[in-house]
Amino acid sequence: MLELHDLTLRIGELTLVEGLNLSLQAGQLHVIIGPNGTGKTSLLRALFGELPLTHGTVRLHGSAMTPHNLPSWRQSIGYMPQNTQLDLDLSALEVVVLGRLQRLSMRLSDDDLGAALEALQALDIAHLADRPVHTLSGGQRQMVLFAQVLLRQPKLMLLDEPVSALDLKHQMQLMEHLQMQTAAQGWVSVAVLHDLNLAAQFADQMIVLGDGRLQAFGPPAQVLSRDLIHQLYHVPVDVLHDQQGQPYVRTLRTPHLAPASA
Ligand SMILES: Nc1ncnc2c1ncn2[C@@H]1O[C@H](COP(=O)(O)OP(=O)(O)OP(=O)(O)O)[C@@H](O)[C@H]1O
Ligand SMILES: [Mg+2]
Repeated sequence: MLELHDLTLRIGELTLVEGLNLSLQAGQLHVIIGPNGTGKTSLLRALFGELPLTHGTVRLHGSAMTPHNLPSWRQSIGYMPQNTQLDLDLSALEVVVLGRLQRLSMRLSDDDLGAALEALQALDIAHLADRPVHTLSGGQRQMVLFAQVLLRQPKLMLLDEPVSALDLKHQMQLMEHLQMQTAAQGWVSVAVLHDLNLAAQFADQMIVLGDGRLQAFGPPAQVLSRDLIHQLYHVPVDVLHDQQGQPYVRTLRTPHLAPASA
């Protein structure tokens, strides 16, 4: 379980996140949604120990994050940042193997190499193995970095907009894989998404942030409402439901911005 107690993050005068209390269960996929600039990335960076906590505590399976245990804290985390620029002179396979960095001794074991190749195959990107990463497209880079965090065998997965550059097929592939592995391995998984429908399809729990505060928390069917979405984004929407009762969101054109009909 990941527990956040009264978490506040400030940089100078600016409050990024304020008084956040959350309990996130192992084996569940939590999706953070919220407008641009509302503190989603800052929250993930803080959970990774990259942004100091101004106030409050974070515990993973009972152990608190402290300024002194950051190296071991980070070892149990698979963190995929929002910016996936990679100006490295390494192949995709080498980048994936780096996911095992804390366990690599002087030599790469057959086990590490086999696991890296397996991850690339599972994500259907084995053909990229020998390509220098700086030559990959944005979406290809995102898939390679996802393979890298999988290899860490983390306790906590923190993914910041992991599908932002992916086509429809790869979005589904990444989210399916994440959900399946989260349940199978008992990870606490947290992913930031802007696509509300993808969030509704895959989230066990949604964490709705607005102005750095928790606006709602719960399963998509409970959380996603027309009023909440309008309050967050100031965009008119309909929230419809499929045959299984799962919600999906349809945006509506604002009448005065829509082109006049002939
Ligand atoms: N290092 C920093 N110094 C100053 N301000 C910062 C810093 N990092 C973030 N901020 C500010 O904190 C606020 C939250 O930023 P954050 O990146 O967490 O937003 P976000 O919810 O991830 O947005 P997006 O959806 O655009 O990625 C923004 O107003 C941002 O400008
Ligand atoms: Mg962000």
